[in-house]
Amino acid sequence: MIPPLDSFDESSLDRAFAALRDEVQSDGRRLNTAEAQEAFRLHWLGRKGGRLKAVSDAWLKHAPAEARRPLGIRFNQLKLDIEATLAGATSAPAQAGAAAVRGIDLTLPGTGHRPGVPHPLLETMHAVVGVFEHLGYSVNVGPQVETDFYNFEALNFPPNHPARDTQDTLLVAHQAAKPGRDRLLMRTHTSPVQIRAMVAQQPPLRIVIPGKVHRNDAADATHSPIFHQVEGLCVDTNITFSDLKGTLDHAMKALFGHSVTTRFFPSFFPFTEPSADVQISCIFCGGSGCRKCKYSGWIELLGCGMVDPAVFLAVSEERRRVGLDPAIYDPAKISGFAFGMGVERIAMILHGVADIGLFYSGDLRFLEQFA
Ligand code: DAH
Repeated sequence: MIPPLDSFDESSLDRAFAALRDEVQSDGRRLNTAEAQEAFRLHWLGRKGGRLKAVSDAWLKHAPAEARRPLGIRFNQLKLDIEATLAGATSAPAQAGAAAVRGIDLTLPGTGHRPGVPHPLLETMHAVVGVFEHLGYSVNVGPQVETDFYNFEALNFPPNHPARDTQDTLLVAHQAAKPGRDRLLMRTHTSPVQIRAMVAQQPPLRIVIPGKVHRNDAADATHSPIFHQVEGLCVDTNITFSDLKGTLDHAMKALFGHSVTTRFFPSFFPFTEPSADVQISCIFCGGSGCRKCKYSGWIELLGCGMVDPAVFLAVSEERRRVGLDPAIYDPAKISGFAFGMGVERIAMILHGVADIGLFYSGDLRFLEQFA
């Protein structure tokens, strides 16, 4: 409480303000914590209940006109004293710790939150998938632990095909008691998801299948026992090899740039007939020949072909077995194309990476180059 002034002559004013200044000084001696400083600030300068406001209300507002100026001068001086006391307290070295406890030491470097970015392999996989999504394809996925039926049998691999050997495929242990078709293995490619899709869905079908695959391979600069593929499948009436060529030519241009051209070479896969390997003109030399393309002007990138009728028959057979209409995959009525590509290989070409192991190393010096 501030009692009203009963006289406004200079010496009365001096006495009244001197008492307040003494109060400020004695309060100011106990400002050794951040909490005390805040309490002092509120006590003296608080907009509503502060003492300075009370002084203004009690004295300034009721002062006779001739006392306004001498009162105002002393009032402003008192305010400066209060502020100086507070500033002196916060800037004293002993108070730095208290300020830091409140988390407001503006001299410290900030704590930056660096956002993560997609791993270059995921980013490449998304880029490939994105190209086909724009063509109206949808995305399917399947299990990495697969059965012999989906990974091999339905894809027309004969029983003694070398890919089925433990030299190439990682088999799950203790499967001997099961019928051959149910034996578990780590999928060696994403192609089994083609079969799963056709058993579950009816044509027309346009799907891309990104995923992880496993092979019993030794790691070297271009091989890893675990790697990634993107598979594609298109099934409808009257799908031709021209559709396949046009689709993949477009996809390669979308991924590598519009000056890229494609070449289709006869090849063999058990699940396509005819089959082809697709090459793109070398993106480093434009086709004139360089070290990267081994002076051929071409880079081999993916496998593809027209879905083999034997695959449609296996799908029909499996659909019949599980009680679904088999006739919709009659190879006399429909046709399709399929393709499969390695994500690592594409990422290595796109980013000029010479060692596949860098993708799995977790080495930030490598990964930060993609941030
Ligand atoms: N599955 C093949 C592999 O892993 C890649 C492939 C080739 C997939 C031709 C296809 C295809 O769908 O038509 O080597």
